[in-house]
Amino acid sequence: MKIHIKTYGCQMNERDSEALSGMLTQAGHIMVESEESADVLLFNTCSVREQAERKAKGKIGYMKKLKAKNPELVIGALGCMAQRLGDKLLDELPHLDFVLGTGQLHTLVPLIESIKADRRQVAAITESPEVLNSMGSHFRSKSDLTDFKAQIAITRGCNRFCSYCIVPYVRGREISREMNDVLDEARALVADGAKEIMLLGQNVAAYGWGGNINPPPSGISPFAELLEELDRIPGLLRIRFTSPYPTYFNDKLISTIASSRAVCHNIHLPLQSGSDRVLSAMNRQYTANQYRAVVAALKQAMPDVTFSTDVIVGFPGESDEDFRQTRELMNEVGYDNSFIFKYSPRPGAKSAEGEDSVPQEVKEERNAILLADLKRRVSEVLQTQVGSIQEVLVEGTSPRNPERWSGRTGTNRVIHFLPTLGVQPGSLRQVKITRAGSVSLFGELLPE
Ligand code: 5AD
Ligand code: SF4
Repeated sequence: MKIHIKTYGCQMNERDSEALSGMLTQAGHIMVESEESADVLLFNTCSVREQAERKAKGKIGYMKKLKAKNPELVIGALGCMAQRLGDKLLDELPHLDFVLGTGQLHTLVPLIESIKADRRQVAAITESPEVLNSMGSHFRSKSDLTDFKAQIAITRGCNRFCSYCIVPYVRGREISREMNDVLDEARALVADGAKEIMLLGQNVAAYGWGGNINPPPSGISPFAELLEELDRIPGLLRIRFTSPYPTYFNDKLISTIASSRAVCHNIHLPLQSGSDRVLSAMNRQYTANQYRAVVAALKQAMPDVTFSTDVIVGFPGESDEDFRQTRELMNEVGYDNSFIFKYSPRPGAKSAEGEDSVPQEVKEERNAILLADLKRRVSEVLQTQVGSIQEVLVEGTSPRNPERWSGRTGTNRVIHFLPTLGVQPGSLRQVKITRAGSVSLFGELLPE
């Protein structure tokens, strides 16, 4: 059958869709780009903010037209929203054939077969631990120039229960894969051409710590042990990971990253708020100063480290003073990128029991202020790079200008350059920075 998947939300969803595409092609199906030519339409959904759910529901609703033209069409909703709403989604969207929750994704192939054979609405949303080890397949297109990048999910679920967050309810308890499974998957990807691997998990640095919400003490970090093993794989040029919870950066993890060959010096360190009062209401287990200490320790171990973050503006009760503290901390750290979200109450999460008290205009205004700060700081910091020599992993033609090529530094900055004969996507090359743009750098490739 011809199958189309549309993915909403985070990198974990992207990775799940990729694994499902791999499983479907192994079962003899063909993945297609267009909705119109598909026999099966799959929507891998997100629940993290209301907007994400609204978008997916709107899109699935619209598919009713296609189904009217082609009654044989099978339509399925997968992932977080499917998990959260289950049968309710089938009632709301009667042309939907099935919902498949986060704990049942590995059953997609037989489920599609059974629905084809016996047309009825199905909701499969029980949590199954099997999903952890059954989602290791990869769908990698050889023609894609960025195919040297791969992602591996090393944990699933989350035990942290931040008060605003629906993830622990829709993705279930945190579980880690066996180290050998992860290493085998990484070796197979590298043998298949991968040069860069992104490790994924809702709280990736909690890998191997048994779901314990208290981070490991000084000297212990199963996640660091995994990084050490991955670092030994010949041909693996870069290792990245997202998202770590800030309190898991102990001495062991920091020194492992700093002394590694391939782990990139770019850390996504979700802040959420710079106000202790708000952090506590969010059930984040750190204070602003503890967060500052993690940043300082990382900067000390790796002077070139860059950071990105997630911040929520307009959390219930966030005052002007709370917001000022967030802004101050963000300017102090100096992020290279930040994902700023306007608080969205998620039914089922703790904070949604209270009032969504910050008016929309205030959320918009705070969002705009933080974005403007970020823009200013990024263009300033990029200017300071002019004249330096940086190593990039060559990616291929720039998306906006096909005559130029681009690559990324380990610190995750994009550098554009004119290609020279023999330069290969997926290779490491030195570039001299000649000019800074507002979000990226320009340079000249140095001879090998
Ligand atoms: N409202 C707004 N942003 C949220 N996030 C998670 N839940 C919510 C919510 N209810 C943000 C957090 C998290 C990122 C993935 O999404 O910043 O780190
Ligand atoms: Fe959500 Fe917090 Fe878990 Fe991240 S750590 S997925 S924000 S509950």
